[in-house]
Amino acid sequence: MKNFLKNVKNREEDTISITVTAEAGEGLILSRAGDYLDLEKHYKQIMMFYESGIRQITAKLEILNQEFQFCNDRNPIENIKSRIKSQESILRKMQKQGLPLTFDNMMNYIHDVAGIRVICPFITDVYQIARLLISQTDVDLVQIKDYIREPKENGYRSLHLIVMAEVHFSDRKRKVPVEIQLRTIAMNFWASTEHQLRYKKDRDFTEDINRQLKECAEIMAEADQRMQKLAENLEISDAEDLFW
Ligand code: GTP
Ligand code: MG
Repeated sequence: MKNFLKNVKNREEDTISITVTAEAGEGLILSRAGDYLDLEKHYKQIMMFYESGIRQITAKLEILNQEFQFCNDRNPIENIKSRIKSQESILRKMQKQGLPLTFDNMMNYIHDVAGIRVICPFITDVYQIARLLISQTDVDLVQIKDYIREPKENGYRSLHLIVMAEVHFSDRKRKVPVEIQLRTIAMNFWASTEHQLRYKKDRDFTEDINRQLKECAEIMAEADQRMQKLAENLEISDAEDLFW
């Protein structure tokens, strides 16, 4: 907390005005803060908005999962995880992007402060859940990155959505940005283990390691395709649900 506040304060000296502009065109001046305590309170309030966005989207996903289970006797969602980005990561990302460290910039340009990861058994589940979620009237789609159709160079696969979740507070409704990563169990196995390998060692991978990792990603993708085919043959999933 001190880190973020100190940086904000250093840049803006003593006359800090914090404007929260999550909704386009609307600026809500929370306070003019002269000390760390006020800033800390504002930071916590903003994080509360993000937590509400996570709760809102998570509830929608759980409802879709339960309904699907009721109708089809199986769960299209294996697991849902969520996190609020740490203050250190927010700061690092803003500095990397050359953004002045203000709450405004955080809310307007850092779209993954609230993050949800959804793990599904089949590729068709990933697309079906994504489609059902973004078709809801209180979820606005901001961005789609389809790394399943077009995997990253290193082999990473997932469907990334950024949505604005509409959340009702006591006196107003706000739109809160939430990043949602949807992937199969196989894609998640690769991404989680690759992440652990990358962050355990404080150095770049060699070409050989990169090649081996990519090969592993392709083995996972192959397994996904075969499971998908089995699901289609057993009529528990429909190939028409693949992609958009
Ligand atoms: P970030 O600055 O990391 O948010 O990247 P970005 O804004 O370009 O977004 P992108 O959609 O590429 O990645 C967002 C998130 O996806 C990351 O923060 C990771 O959680 C995940 N991700 C992306 N690429 C990889 C990867 O190569 N390996 C793993 N394990 N995760 C990845
Ligand atoms: Mg990120």
